[in-house]
Parts: sequence; structure tokens; C-alpha cells
Amino acid sequence: MDWGIKNRLSRIIKSDGRTVMLAVDHGYFLGPIKKLEQPCKTIAPLISYTDALMLTRGVLRTSVDPANDIPIVLRVSGGNSIIGKDLSNEAITVSIEDALRLNVCAVALSVYVGSEHEHQTLINLTKLIDEATRYGIPVLAVTAVGKELEKRDARYLALSCRIAAELGAHFVKTYYCEDFEKVVKSCFVPLVIAGGPKLKTELDALSLAYEAINEGASGVDMGRNIWQSENPVAMIKVIRAIVHEGTSLTKAQAMFKSLKSKKKSKK
Ligand code: 5RP
Repeated sequence: MDWGIKNRLSRIIKSDGRTVMLAVDHGYFLGPIKKLEQPCKTIAPLISYTDALMLTRGVLRTSVDPANDIPIVLRVSGGNSIIGKDLSNEAITVSIEDALRLNVCAVALSVYVGSEHEHQTLINLTKLIDEATRYGIPVLAVTAVGKELEKRDARYLALSCRIAAELGAHFVKTYYCEDFEKVVKSCFVPLVIAGGPKLKTELDALSLAYEAINEGASGVDMGRNIWQSENPVAMIKVIRAIVHEGTSLTKAQAMFKSLKSKKKSKK
């Protein structure tokens, strides 16, 4: 691997081999979803607990202080919307020159294996890898499922992650699922997990993060289960403890309850 790619990756995935990425890129197809109406307000309290920010160039240019040295993972695929016909109909939406201008640490693109536009999204990935590699920029492949949430099983995700790694993605983002170890084993590059739509409780989200790390994920790239929580700072602090300190689930859940009650008593 080239020095530039290794250097950029090491800014995202820390020396313990782990990372806590914060995803705030949802607006590129979901629009102004709850708690991300004003991205700067969502990002500001969480940025100091984050190893890398995943976002679009619009949010980066308007909502993140350029003096901040947070590593940026720039979403560079899109071209669809939640009300459109087919979420898989994506293209590359940012030139490599603009990614360089923005001094990003990695670029991210979704692949939709098994969808109508499977071929197109996989070719998008290979084109992006060729371009980005030329400039020493790592590529994060996101194994998207679109509206078909039932696709999130180990067989499907192992297939998607393996294809992304075989095509040259430097790291892969996927979902946690039952038999997640099978997904981890299938993929020879680091895997991070998305949280998916907000779960019933924060304790469920912490459990998801814990299980994923315990079963071999290199970290998380979570969004809604952090910033749609009533206690987003407590959430990200506890997720950091799980990811970087190996905190047990019982301790993590207790830590969350304690941070939550401290916040309440301050009010
Ligand atoms: C959308 C994405 C999102 O960044 C991803 O889904 C992570 O956020 P969440 O934890 O809210 O699912 O890549 O394709």
C-alpha cells in the first residue's frame, strides 16, 4: 500500500486498529432528517469525541470549521432520493480534484449488490478506486441495502463486503447482523458498522456496537443512533469506551445511565 494511503488510513483507524466514525451524510438522499436539519448543530458537540467525520462536501464546506483537524471521509456517491424510483441508481458525484481540494482522508461510495444497478455501482467503485489510488486517497465502500432492510443477513453482507474488498476498497462499511463473524471472515480489509435506523433504546444501540466489536469489526461509523438520541454526547462517549477501551456491555450500559442521570441533575 502506498505511503499516502497508509498515512490517511492511520488518521482514521487509530493505532489500536479501531475507529469511531460519526456519519452525518444522510441528507444526500434523505434530506433534512430529524436532528440533522442543521448539521453544524449536530456535529459541534460530538466532534471532539469522533475519530473521523463522514459527510458530503456541502455539509463539510458549510458546517465544519476548516481549522479543525478532524479526518474527513467524504461521501462521493449519490444522485437519487428517498422518494425516487430506485436508490441503487447512483453515480460518482464529486471529482477527485474537489476531494483533494477539501483535503479529505478518504472517499466513500455505496455499492448495491443484487440491485437493479448492481453493475453500475460496482463499476463506480472500481473507477473511484483507480482515481483515488492515483492520489493516495483510501476508498470506503458502503454495502448499501436501500429500502430492503431484510437484506441485512450474513450471507448477503458477506457477499457484498467480499466483492467490495476484492475490487480494491481499502475499508468497508456494512451492517451488524446475526452471525456477523461470517461477514468479518469474508472480508480481508477493515470493517466498520453503520447503526441503521434509530433503535428502540440507547441500550440496544450500545449492545449492537459491542457485539460488532466483539465479533471482529474495526469500529463503527454510526449516525442516527448517536445524534437522534436525547443524549448524543453520552452515547458517543460510551461507544468510544466500547471501541477503544474494550469496555464490557454491562459497564457500558451502566456508564450510559450514569452520564444520562448526571446531565439530568445539572438541568
Ligand atoms: C447511508 C450511510 C450512512 O452514513 C449510514 O447509514 C450510517 O449512519 P446510520 O448509523 O445512521 O445508519 O452510509 O448510506
